[in-house]
Amino acid sequence: MSLLLLPLPGDEARASRLERLLGADRAPVAFRRFPDGETYARLDGDATGRVVVVVGSLCDPDSKLATLLFAAQAARDRGARKVVLAAPYLAYMRQDASFLPGEVVTSRVFAQLLSRAFDALVAVDPHLHRLESLDELYDIPTVAVSAAPAIIAYLRRTVPDPVIVGPDSESGRWVGAVADALGAPSLVFEKTRHGDRDVTIGGADGASMWKQRTPVLLDDIISTGRTMTGAANVLAAAGFSKAVCVGIHAVLVPGAYAELLRAPIARVATTDTIEHESNAIPVDALLADGIREAVSRL
Ligand code: R5P
Repeated sequence: MSLLLLPLPGDEARASRLERLLGADRAPVAFRRFPDGETYARLDGDATGRVVVVVGSLCDPDSKLATLLFAAQAARDRGARKVVLAAPYLAYMRQDASFLPGEVVTSRVFAQLLSRAFDALVAVDPHLHRLESLDELYDIPTVAVSAAPAIIAYLRRTVPDPVIVGPDSESGRWVGAVADALGAPSLVFEKTRHGDRDVTIGGADGASMWKQRTPVLLDDIISTGRTMTGAANVLAAAGFSKAVCVGIHAVLVPGAYAELLRAPIARVATTDTIEHESNAIPVDALLADGIREAVSRL
């Protein structure tokens, strides 16, 4: 039986694309807010025996959590055999450790909540820093889809002689994979974080040997943009031309995009895991493969 896709509000266009790629059906679902701000959810239609895939990019997660949980329950109430979450952007992956007494490891709490509501999870490049895999957090089968093939294809098409630059050590895993595939050199800088919007970038000694190439800054998340602008400034000071700034998840808080465009950055290209005007790298086909894999593990 074909999959039944149930998009969260805002993910309808993505669900339509996935519907075509997967030969799936769309669940007739309705969400709305009551005047007091609470959420109403209704799945009008039968899901008996079906695998339902809730499609929702979890940027701004606190505003979506209730809807997400109600969507999963609506599917079960209508008889779904299994309920899968396809979250192109998986939130709450950055607080993966407690650094101060009493600090909540929100990655773990969030994972416990979702593991109770869903039978499997698919996410694109979840931010795995101190963890090797999502399985260390989630109690359900998980599939981490890599956006690297789409990024590689985009760079192959648009940047002739790149040097791939990671602004911090965490970006090293993406930088290595992309640079190897393109046969390009790579650099990984060092980031020191002083606060939410305050980072310094170092470790650029010797970088200027590649300054004839086009610098491609590559990171998984662009949030305030300070990591990218810091790295772009370091590259400019080392004599590079303006950077092409590639981000997997365009979290981009208000004001961040404008700040990036004022930095020594030629253009910003993000994948479409979060809808944003900088989206230039579609990952639907990779996400569809990830959904197929998750379903095969149920
Ligand atoms: C975290 O380490 C991530 O890989 C990114 O580097 C980080 O989230 C970027 O944040 P911001 O854009 O706020 O500097």
